[in-house]
Amino acid sequence: MSNRIKAEFPDKLKCLFEPNRYKVLYGGRGGAKSWGVARALLIQGAAKPLRVLCGREVQKSIQDSVHKLLSDQIQALGLQSFYQIQNNIIRGKNGTEFTFHGLKHNIGNIKSVEGTDICWVEEAQTVSKSSWDTLIPTIRKEGSEIWITFNPELDDDETYKRFVLNPPVNAIIQKVNWSDNPWFPEVLRQEKDTLKERDMDSYLTVWEGHCRVTLDGAIYANELRLATEEGRITRVPYDSSKPVHTFFDLGWADNTSIWFAQAIGFEFRIIDFIEDSKKPITHYMQELQKRNYLYGTHWLPHDAQAHQLATGKSIESIMREAGFNTQITPKASIAEGINAARVLFNRCYFDAEKCAPGINQLRRYRYDVNPDTGQYSKQPLHDNASHASDAFRYLAVAIQEETKGQKRKDEEQQYYGSDGWMM
Ligand SMILES: Nc1ncnc2c1ncn2[C@@H]1O[C@H](COP(=O)(O)OP(=O)(O)OP(=O)(O)O)[C@@H](O)[C@H]1O
Ligand SMILES: [Mg+2]
Repeated sequence: MSNRIKAEFPDKLKCLFEPNRYKVLYGGRGGAKSWGVARALLIQGAAKPLRVLCGREVQKSIQDSVHKLLSDQIQALGLQSFYQIQNNIIRGKNGTEFTFHGLKHNIGNIKSVEGTDICWVEEAQTVSKSSWDTLIPTIRKEGSEIWITFNPELDDDETYKRFVLNPPVNAIIQKVNWSDNPWFPEVLRQEKDTLKERDMDSYLTVWEGHCRVTLDGAIYANELRLATEEGRITRVPYDSSKPVHTFFDLGWADNTSIWFAQAIGFEFRIIDFIEDSKKPITHYMQELQKRNYLYGTHWLPHDAQAHQLATGKSIESIMREAGFNTQITPKASIAEGINAARVLFNRCYFDAEKCAPGINQLRRYRYDVNPDTGQYSKQPLHDNASHASDAFRYLAVAIQEETKGQKRKDEEQQYYGSDGWMM
């Protein structure tokens, strides 16, 4: 059957016809990734019976899936008499089946997944770690394959890290851009050229498949770009001659986030970060102790003073009683906090590995968009990315206060002399 189908493929997509556990095609828009994969699957499914699972992170309805794309390609390849297109499934005369599923939350419950020959995950840039961790071991049939297509966004995204930065064995990883597509349409060429003139950063992501340092509207975009360029996101070891201060944002259903930092000369070294949710304060106290750092001050947000119903005690008093030296972060508005963070940022060094989840949130910390006007609001978006960023604001405000206090002391010292006497 397949011998009679006429279809051409760009060179970089020929890998779709060689056996490999993982086939990863990623890059900018219009690289012929989706068409290529759809065609290769339809051709292979016509040659022998295959169970193909088409997955994406969220699939609210079949319209979100590649069902339409596959249906169009069936027409284009002249395979209408072979494939029968139904609402939620596409069947070949030889028993080949294409099914369509959302991966988030429910993929573990789909019984038929185990018999899958090929799993195609489209728009995979948004697939989470837990979705991959559940999906991959269920695709377990001998010789089964996982095909992945995506447009990269941030280099800290799970899919990018897992398949491009640290590819698994038996994987073919192919970067595919518009320039690899012999049929790159004229409308897209115009879009591409316009964006290139207007906004080079966006162009590099959208069309050349580079990762962004930050997202649009990102509050610390410039600071993070500079930190990356200056090599300040790197390996930052603990210096045991100086205390480690910690900076908390507290949550229960929301994350509790904690930054660990050391002031060394003019440098502010951020050596560690932890976050978790639905854990009592004793859990975080243990995490602090486990690390064996020599601690200075633990800066807590105002809500640490509230008495908890369960214990009748405040988080601040629980920590103090356990011997932690705590202070409450001075009050500041969000805008003041962001300004303080911007000022401090250029002195900051971050441990790239230990702080990765925190840095990822700083990258995603952005202004909300007003849905009516499309304009950025002055308020940051409150989402999963905001807790580490809140803790970072508190860190900056606390350090600003400390620096002011230190300045006052220095000035007094100059005036009165180092031992308190007037000079
Ligand atoms: N085999 C082909 N034959 C003819 N035209 C093709 C072929 N493959 C791709 N094209 C053309 O290139 C366009 C872009 O292809 P496709 O949508 O597959 O790109 P993509 O890499 O998935 O892009 P995106 O990242 O935007 O999803 C298609 O709309 C089609 O016009
Ligand atoms: Mg596509």
